Amino acid sequence: MKLLFYAAKTYDMKSFDPEAAKYPDLRIDYIEHELDKRSAVLAKGYDAVCAFVSADVGEETLRKLKDAGVKAVLMRCAGYNNVDTKAAAELGIYVKRVPAYSPEAVAELAMALALAVNRRLYKAYNKVRENDYSLKNLRGVNMRGKTAGIVGTGKIGAYMCEQCRGFGMKVIAYDVYENESLKDYVTYVSLDELLRTSDLISLHCPLIDSTYHMINIDAIKKMKDDVILVNTSRGALISTNDLIEGIRMNKFLGVGLDVYEEETGNVYEDRSDEIMQHSVTSRLLSFPNVMITSHQGFYTKEALEAIAQTTLKNLADAVAGVKTENDV
Ligand code: NAI
Repeated sequence: MKLLFYAAKTYDMKSFDPEAAKYPDLRIDYIEHELDKRSAVLAKGYDAVCAFVSADVGEETLRKLKDAGVKAVLMRCAGYNNVDTKAAAELGIYVKRVPAYSPEAVAELAMALALAVNRRLYKAYNKVRENDYSLKNLRGVNMRGKTAGIVGTGKIGAYMCEQCRGFGMKVIAYDVYENESLKDYVTYVSLDELLRTSDLISLHCPLIDSTYHMINIDAIKKMKDDVILVNTSRGALISTNDLIEGIRMNKFLGVGLDVYEEETGNVYEDRSDEIMQHSVTSRLLSFPNVMITSHQGFYTKEALEAIAQTTLKNLADAVAGVKTENDV
């Protein structure tokens, strides 16, 4: 089995190489470039390719992969909004993903962001490093007794509910399918009610047509003043321009984002010496109550090991022509 591994980082090799040793006939070649319509031709002679969240797995890319003889696209992530699944099915290319590698990892980052923006930890850290021990602009609120509104109560959202309960919060949720296992302490409400009554709103639903820009200016206007908004799911759940308008309306106590609309092109790149042109991200970062991390929700030791395990199992299944619950 030959696998071309796109957008490889050192940490990928560290987690995949030990796992690959369990498959004697497997060869993995790692390359730095992400999978897109230009780099797809590099996959000639490989059985499968492995790609990540910033890949462009649209129809043109898939056609080039097909011409190159590739049988499977292995997404080493849960979300697959960047894959044209219809085109893949028409071309007979398997697309497999890692639906659950460590939902706790993402939920824990969501809570970390909520706490960090509430208590302005990013400011406090820098202040103390500069011998500024004043408390100016650091005041937060207690989480205990507040209402957490969780949008999407699948694997990650369920852990977020559990953590919020642990903090002594009242937990409400909105989902198109209600999670029975949460019902002894989570109250399901309409999205409208969740927006109107939550002190912390955390997004954990996938990016699909019906969730694109679900947080727009109308939704933001419904929110309580001084709400904390956290997104660790996909950037386009929130309209960035509307978020900026909402921040300027003083709606938010804090905004914590692990994902944002402009992240493709940024994710896992060091662009610190570049002059950013027309970047709404830069504008977002200019606000004192916004903290952005770069899609690191999944980035724990346990999650990386689970991703490597499932992805190579997906490869073996794809080569053997076996369909599993990891197919998209
Ligand atoms: P999941 O599939 O277990 O749960 C998603 C939930 O969203 C389901 O309960 C589903 O019914 C619900 N949902 C679907 N449409 C909805 C709608 N219109 N309104 C409200 N809820 C809706 O997925 P999981 O594993 O919990 O992941 C959630 C998202 O987190 C993924 O789609 C992915 O985009 C993101 N993610 C982010 C990571 C990061 O590193 N920041 C890592 C892993 C996932």
